[in-house]
Amino acid sequence: MKISVIGCGYLGAVHAAAMAQLGHQVVGFDIDSYRISELAAGRAPFYEPQLPEILASAGAKGGLAFSTDPAVVAGAKVHFVAVGTPQRAGGYAADLSAVDAAIDALIPHLAPGDLVVGKSTVPVGTAAALAARVAAGCPGAMLAWNPEFLREGFAVADTITPDRIVYGLPADPAQAASAKALLDEVYATALAAGTPLVVTDYQTAELVKVAANAFLATKISFINAMAEISESVGADVTQLADAIGHDARIGRRFLNAGVGFGGGCLPKDIRAFTARAEELGRGESIAFLKEIDAINLRRRQRVVDLVTELLDGQVFHKKVAVLGLSFKPESDDIRDSPALDVAVQLKGLGADVVAVDPKAIPNSMRTHPQLAYTEEVETALSGAHAVVLVTEWKVFRDLDPAWVAGLVERQLIVDGRNCLDPDAWRAAGWTYRGMGRG
Ligand code: UDX
Repeated sequence: MKISVIGCGYLGAVHAAAMAQLGHQVVGFDIDSYRISELAAGRAPFYEPQLPEILASAGAKGGLAFSTDPAVVAGAKVHFVAVGTPQRAGGYAADLSAVDAAIDALIPHLAPGDLVVGKSTVPVGTAAALAARVAAGCPGAMLAWNPEFLREGFAVADTITPDRIVYGLPADPAQAASAKALLDEVYATALAAGTPLVVTDYQTAELVKVAANAFLATKISFINAMAEISESVGADVTQLADAIGHDARIGRRFLNAGVGFGGGCLPKDIRAFTARAEELGRGESIAFLKEIDAINLRRRQRVVDLVTELLDGQVFHKKVAVLGLSFKPESDDIRDSPALDVAVQLKGLGADVVAVDPKAIPNSMRTHPQLAYTEEVETALSGAHAVVLVTEWKVFRDLDPAWVAGLVERQLIVDGRNCLDPDAWRAAGWTYRGMGRG
């Protein structure tokens, strides 16, 4: 099938390459000429494991092309809209200007029977409004909502073998049947493999996405709230998480206490959901998400406070090695990154921050030129008065406490991700502080 993808960021670029890998003829469109020239040359414009490999193999098969000209989408039967919906400047609501621009760019190239498929995360009610615009712009063209649940770092696998597929279809039964048939063809491989499929209406499909992210954010902030309590009574939140996680109804995944969640999705999605619920007069139903956000932001402050405390309040001109910048390992994404936030706060207190990260330095340098960076873990650690681990990259998890001890000025470490073995670090002479670990 001939498919177009409008918006080639973290979501769209992976979607385009994965669809081509599955045998579809794919064209990707984006207004960002850097992204498009990289993708057209078979290079990934950001770090995502396996993306370079599938770009190369799908490109070699000839089924994948990219352009900054919206006319490239003409002739495709299914058009995925995968543009960003960031937090609006000065508020909590989602900024839908990229979605609006994508629909405007698409409409002149649509033909009757074409299906526009929304993938971006949007406030509930958006799909119905966009469907009306599509129908007015091209009578006979249709719209469906098909939320995306991929995780950065696992985006290729999550796209090719998703754990579920959701179709939000038009109310009109004939249109719904045509839209479903087209989507079934797009996802034929995953459906044949038995991937669960939920077929529903627009508003449910839109809500599924934000509900899933709100639940995940809640799970993380719940365990971080337990970390706060653990801190005041000397309990260990990692053992607590292990113990409650054995209950299959709770589950151990997403119960890792630490510096909290970040990234381009969870933080802005819970805020946009709150704003939308308030618009609908239902603010009280999810008012708890404000607390989820507040708990999350407190954990960043907690890490900064622990560093300050270990340095007896004398942070000024102390060298602090910050291990990690991306919002999570296996990503170069620094959007709303707790790690970067901690680095900036420590710098603001006068510390000589030296940050190290395997992939996120170029992005961090662009947005935060005031920080000092190094690609070498050893350089970051040499002469440090304190070490703070904020993104649990394997290279940091595997550090040998004795080796690090030989580099630093003082053996003080804050483990903002609870990913080090406190006994091993203490045995090597370190003063270790974790998150909610006594
Ligand atoms: C998330 C959702 O998981 C995904 O389904 C959705 O499509 C997009 O948003 P992503 O932002 O890639 O994906 O990252 P995720 O793996 O969910 O992690 C989000 C944040 O939570 C990271 O900062 C991570 O470090 C943090 N986290 C995760 C915790 O602090 N503790 C945990 O136990 C798990």
